[in-house]
Amino acid sequence: MNLNGKPGKLLDCLGIRKLYPPQEKTVEEGLLKGRNLLVATPTASGKTLVAALAIASQVERGVSKAFYTVPLRSIAFEKKAFFEAVGRCLGYRVETIVGDLEVPERKLARADIIISTYEKMDSIIRKNPDYLSEISVGVIDELHYISDPKRGPIVELIVSALKYRAPQIQLLGLSATVSNAAEIAEWLNARLVESTWRPVPLLQGVYKDGVIRYANNREEPVSQKTGVPTLDLVIHASRKGGQSIVFVQSRRKAVSLARKIAVKHALLNYDRKTSKEAAHKLLESTDKTELSQLLSNLVSKGVAFHHAGLSNQQRTLVENAFRNQAINVIVATPTLAAGVNLPARYVIIDEYVRFEEGYRTPISVSEYKQLAGRAGRPGYDETGYAIIVARPSDDVEDLVDYYIRREPEPLTSKLANRRVLRIILLALIASGLARRPDGIDRLIMNTLYAHQSQSKAVIGFIVKESLRDLEKWDMVTRSNDLYGPTRLGLLTSLLYLDPLSSRFIAENLRRKPLKNSFGILHLVSMTDDAQVVRVQRRDIEELYRVIDERYSDLIVTPEKYIDEEARYLQAVKTALLLEDWINEVAMDEIESKYNVGPGDVSSIVETSVWLVYSVSRISKLFPETQELSSYTRTLEERLKYGVKEEVLELTRIKGVGRVRARLLYQHGYKSVAELRKASIEDLVRIPTIGYIVAREILGQLGVNVEGMSEKEKKEREGILSYT
Ligand SMILES: Nc1ncnc2c1ncn2[C@@H]1O[C@H](COP(=O)(O)OP(=O)(O)OP(=O)(O)O)[C@@H](O)[C@H]1O
Ligand SMILES: [Mg+2]
Repeated sequence: MNLNGKPGKLLDCLGIRKLYPPQEKTVEEGLLKGRNLLVATPTASGKTLVAALAIASQVERGVSKAFYTVPLRSIAFEKKAFFEAVGRCLGYRVETIVGDLEVPERKLARADIIISTYEKMDSIIRKNPDYLSEISVGVIDELHYISDPKRGPIVELIVSALKYRAPQIQLLGLSATVSNAAEIAEWLNARLVESTWRPVPLLQGVYKDGVIRYANNREEPVSQKTGVPTLDLVIHASRKGGQSIVFVQSRRKAVSLARKIAVKHALLNYDRKTSKEAAHKLLESTDKTELSQLLSNLVSKGVAFHHAGLSNQQRTLVENAFRNQAINVIVATPTLAAGVNLPARYVIIDEYVRFEEGYRTPISVSEYKQLAGRAGRPGYDETGYAIIVARPSDDVEDLVDYYIRREPEPLTSKLANRRVLRIILLALIASGLARRPDGIDRLIMNTLYAHQSQSKAVIGFIVKESLRDLEKWDMVTRSNDLYGPTRLGLLTSLLYLDPLSSRFIAENLRRKPLKNSFGILHLVSMTDDAQVVRVQRRDIEELYRVIDERYSDLIVTPEKYIDEEARYLQAVKTALLLEDWINEVAMDEIESKYNVGPGDVSSIVETSVWLVYSVSRISKLFPETQELSSYTRTLEERLKYGVKEEVLELTRIKGVGRVRARLLYQHGYKSVAELRKASIEDLVRIPTIGYIVAREILGQLGVNVEGMSEKEKKEREGILSYT
């Protein structure tokens, strides 16, 4: 098939001579004529190019725009690189907005292609800028996220808002894992392109006791050298000349497994010279923290970990080092789960079970297929291999049946829930996207939720009820059939809070504006937005004792919550945990005292930082609570770092967290001013501080840190030659 015009030029620029069969199918189905399409074709089948072709044929420079939205930052950065190349070829201006990288509205207004995460797209939509109506192509990549309880409603809002604001838009949904594709296509009002064609075949199997059992019944022996199954597999893969990505479920496991693999680096195939260079580069060009020292050390041995705790620059360096074979193995959390192209011949799934709210939950079939799909990407290997590591108690055949032979789960709307719906309705009104009942109705009827539900009348009823709630809770006002947000409503939507939570916070604080950290931590832990710890039977007596003893600290007292004992006690237990955190109790101690898993504390803390920040914003709205605002700002900062107020000043220095701040304080450096008087040699005497960190700390404070002692030179050499 020969393409003319800009799509043809695009292929020339990218050096692509022939479309893949599923790509040809999309053209036949009207890709270049503005048709909506659902492209449900396998991993690595070239869906990105499909989107780029549509953009090339639809977007008129400076007149119309394209949006490309993705669920993960790693994908956003990969698409950024790709579309910047496309932009250079076709003269498009490309802007990317991800996480904290803010791009001013002006730039977005001028861009031809905007790449963003779902959340950023959602925040653009909530601002409702004029250029929304100029969008001629909207791409939702990894559309299966619509089934995710947290992110799914955002995807629905994006699609429905785009359809509403830009009726002429060409929508493209892309995903390798949609089993109910016909239904989803119907919802998008799209033609369906389905295929099972993959440019590189993918062999899938399960590993146990020295044997890989493939789904095609072939068996392959693996020599058991190390006592660690995943490590044996990595060595096996490396011996056969392949690179691997190993998936685990937590950051901590990613680091510990990478270390284990590095110990056996003599058995791995990697380019030793480039790996040393990559290790140097990591150390030289990124923040010099313990994490980057460790990472650099591992990279020098051909191994890396990859998780959300790395900076963007560190991730890019790791990914590039993997591309040029300086690294043989990446141990990753699901931050690399979907959409990315790396030269992994092997994907090894070390853990297919994860902790979710205290329960062990196996990953979904869809997620498995996405992880597996990272193996065997075009241009790198002839065949890809995806291997699940069975646990000792697992039956191999069961795993093959469950994950490899089954279809992914059908996609279902997660909007069918009052809480999510009222958040969305408030967002529509606050942003001005829709303020009249008929507009609101039309927008909601565009959702997958409406499409999948039995009765439109029921939805109409629920929407009305939710609007009435919003009015009752002082979030919106209504006059002459026009809804408008109140100040509290506007703030609630801006803060991404559940209206019920912000109302709960406002009501209780206005009744009792108490400056008490425990009381405030308990208050926010009572909201629906809180993340709480579970209460065990054996905790109950102790929790009641705490309630008695600290009754006067509480803003929300127990009387009204007799019927909601569990909710109340969970909030008390969570507030105690958070209180320990800001009083500098050690992390391991908190984990064992509250019986929470690794990672739980940090996500509970993260949520409470957001909620306490919300408290400080809400308290500004009312005269009786205004004084609380600055008090809660300090509390928010203490929560962020997990420290007492006296060391807060020190934690504001980059590279100084709660542990180092306390050590500095104990060694007499109680303020930034005192710290300025220190020398590098003074600081390295303090535990946990080495030369790299000492330099970073003093450098930031404007202290002259030029010149290196002999001792420092020696130690730096040591970091890189250490084996
Ligand atoms: N027609 C083509 N000829 C050669 N290579 C191609 C062609 N189309 C795409 N590719 C290459 O195939 C690789 C995979 O493409 P892409 O990332 O778009 O896959 P995908 O379908 O989006 O997969 P996933 O579902 O995993 O996101 C890319 O490296 C891309 O450059
Ligand atoms: Mg993709």
